[in-house]
Amino acid sequence: MKEETLLVRDNRTGKTYDLPLFKGTVRAMDFRQIKTDPEDFGLMTYDPAFMNTASTMSSITFIDGDKGILRYRGYPIEELAETCSFLDVAYLLLFGELPPAEESREWADKVNHHTMIHENLKKFMEGFRHDAHPMGMFVSTVSALSTFYPEARDVKNKQARKIQILRLIGKVPTIAAYAYRHSLGLPYVYPDNAFGYTENFLNMLWRMTETRYKPNPVLASALDVLFILHADHEQNCSANTMRCVGSAHADPYLSLAAAAAALAGPLHGGANEEVLRMLDEIGTVSGVPAFVEKVKRGECKLMGFGHRVYKNYDPRARIVKQTAEEVFKVTGVNPKLEIAMELERIALRDEYFTRRKLYPNVDFYSGIIYQAMGFSPDMFTVLFAIPRTVGWLAQWQELLDDPEQKIARPRQIFTGQALRHVATPAPEKVPVAVA
Ligand code: MLT
Repeated sequence: MKEETLLVRDNRTGKTYDLPLFKGTVRAMDFRQIKTDPEDFGLMTYDPAFMNTASTMSSITFIDGDKGILRYRGYPIEELAETCSFLDVAYLLLFGELPPAEESREWADKVNHHTMIHENLKKFMEGFRHDAHPMGMFVSTVSALSTFYPEARDVKNKQARKIQILRLIGKVPTIAAYAYRHSLGLPYVYPDNAFGYTENFLNMLWRMTETRYKPNPVLASALDVLFILHADHEQNCSANTMRCVGSAHADPYLSLAAAAAALAGPLHGGANEEVLRMLDEIGTVSGVPAFVEKVKRGECKLMGFGHRVYKNYDPRARIVKQTAEEVFKVTGVNPKLEIAMELERIALRDEYFTRRKLYPNVDFYSGIIYQAMGFSPDMFTVLFAIPRTVGWLAQWQELLDDPEQKIARPRQIFTGQALRHVATPAPEKVPVAVA
């Protein structure tokens, strides 16, 4: 049988080390024994931006970036999007299995009973400026939830944890919808538990003076699919933030607010907003070839193409594109779709992009759908944060139950000044002013 070890020879000392391999990895701590002398700290690994470091073991989401595969708990994303509701997928991500029918109803019911937010939290949201960015409102309001549920600090208590999970999944659409209404100067609409999860969200967003809002079933189910696609994506920047802050045992509201803050960045959840900006700049289908040439000359970036882990078509992008067709039957076609499709057609035939393995990612088409549905671009990241709340919570739970995890604390390679001393005589101390 082949030995599952790595033979390392340190040319500084001539010593060799037989390091165990574990699931295709070497434990970074095994390098610490490699020293030039007993005083030496030992070898570390250097990996800015975690390009090749597994920070955890996880059984939630599987990605094969070369083949373009995404699975939640073993189920292909295509099957989940086709056959399941977002809340069932949420249950799957959090508890490992799809819920049986009875459990599914109970679960949806429990989530529904946590959609209301405290009136003081509503007042808190009213305090934002009229033009506050909805994502800033979302992040701040989620963190303010921490002050309403002090028992959430008991992160080791599994029962208490479950309640915070229900609260967060139930309340994030309400907070998102209030942020949206606030940006339009409209009164907030209370949740209505007679609706399903996505329908209720549409109701809170768009109900005006009618006695009963009727969500469009095609749009509600399209949004449900988009929520499934965005629910988790293993150790991305915001999941890593959730785990990092969670590892200090901050409560889930604070940890989740931190994760949402990471998502707000244009390199992460804000990317689909950038795609729309790019399509606006291109303007017409006939403008695509000239834009592609500009990209190739390095004068601008092709937004929505390429991904840190996918070196193939992002499987979510394919489903978003199909969902767009359904949405456009209701809303009419967003003219940007034609530009996007032409861009995709040209780029996928161009060796410049295929050699670099630049394929459309989930952000390429999602903004186009959201815009057709009536959302302004500054809401796009909030629409990402609602379903990703489930993924963050699943990652957080897994972290807390993992006996190997400790507070996250990377090392550094110090590149600053070596020891030096203040010149004597020392510069005169400025006296502290007394008011
Ligand atoms: C995500 O879904 O989180 C994004 O595609 C980013 C990532 O996975 O790195």
